[in-house]
Amino acid sequence: MFSFEPKDQPQQVVQSFLVGGVAPRPIALVSTISKDRIPNLSPFSFFNAFGSNPPVVAFSASRRGRDGSLKDTYNNLIDTGECVINAVTFNILEQINLASTEYASEVNEWEKSGLTPIKSDIINPCLVQESPFRMECKLYQMVSVGINPGSANIAICEVLKFHVDEEIMENGKINPFKIHHIGRNGGDIWSNIDSNALFQLKKPTTNNNIGMNGLPDYIRNSPVFTANNLARLALLETTPDLERAYEFIKGYEPLKSSLSDFEQFRISGDLGKMLSSALFNISNLENILELTAKEFLQQNRIKEAFLICMYNNHIMKD
Ligand SMILES: Cc1cc2nc3c(=O)[nH]c(=O)nc-3n(C[C@H](O)[C@H](O)[C@H](O)COP(=O)(O)O)c2cc1C
Repeated sequence: MFSFEPKDQPQQVVQSFLVGGVAPRPIALVSTISKDRIPNLSPFSFFNAFGSNPPVVAFSASRRGRDGSLKDTYNNLIDTGECVINAVTFNILEQINLASTEYASEVNEWEKSGLTPIKSDIINPCLVQESPFRMECKLYQMVSVGINPGSANIAICEVLKFHVDEEIMENGKINPFKIHHIGRNGGDIWSNIDSNALFQLKKPTTNNNIGMNGLPDYIRNSPVFTANNLARLALLETTPDLERAYEFIKGYEPLKSSLSDFEQFRISGDLGKMLSSALFNISNLENILELTAKEFLQQNRIKEAFLICMYNNHIMKD
């Protein structure tokens, strides 16, 4: 393991571990106005949401790594106390990359990036038309942690008004498959949060599950299950009994089939045929029932997966 204390490494090294390890990060595209009325638009990925009553978001316009100087966004927030935070989506990726250029303070980054301002309802900085999700914010508190290059200026902002494009909404909520966020990782690497990156995982519904430590050894030590598989099995509230496992298996007749048929049933997600084929092929492939249980798990049929494992363990002992 490579372990280190930040005081023993240059700031650039610490920064590279931070952005590599704390990732992917959402990106705030922050619109501010200077006291001389010059609009500014810059992306910040040291950003997140922290509470909803009142709604609070925060980002850090850190001191420049180069010389420790303060960024325009920080100065504008201190002077005016207002900003709009716009979500960054794939369609404006290259434009926000452009907006991150360290232009001189008097340069209008809206013009440089080609993004379109729309008037806000409550505050002076504008919303970004091309972003589907924008928050009008007032500065709640600025927390500066240090004065050296790379040190944080955490702008804690209260959201005064949300503006959400209806195209990204469904049933009164944001549909994650429609917003197409991008995120930031380490170095020049970004995350593309499209439908390939998204998946569903239900929350534990009880505080009473059996847990990893409640799984029997024959499941925990199986070479078939990953840690993720085991943790899903551990969601069950009680260990089913063996009788129930036999009853369940009785519902499936062994199906005369080859191992390649079994594989085809796996690929097509036909759990019933897979189990019947596994029962026929028990002597031809070690762990075939556990492989079947794994597929039941993938389809969130946790109890049935557990029953298959119990049955498997019992017949293997015989
Ligand atoms: C995707 C992305 C994320 C960034 N995140 C941050 C950040 O969290 N904090 C920061 O200080 N700078 C960050 N930067 C760099 C700023 O955008 C850049 O310094 C910008 O020019 C600051 O502009 P300003 O001086 O007009 O405020 C990021 C740049 C990009 C492209």
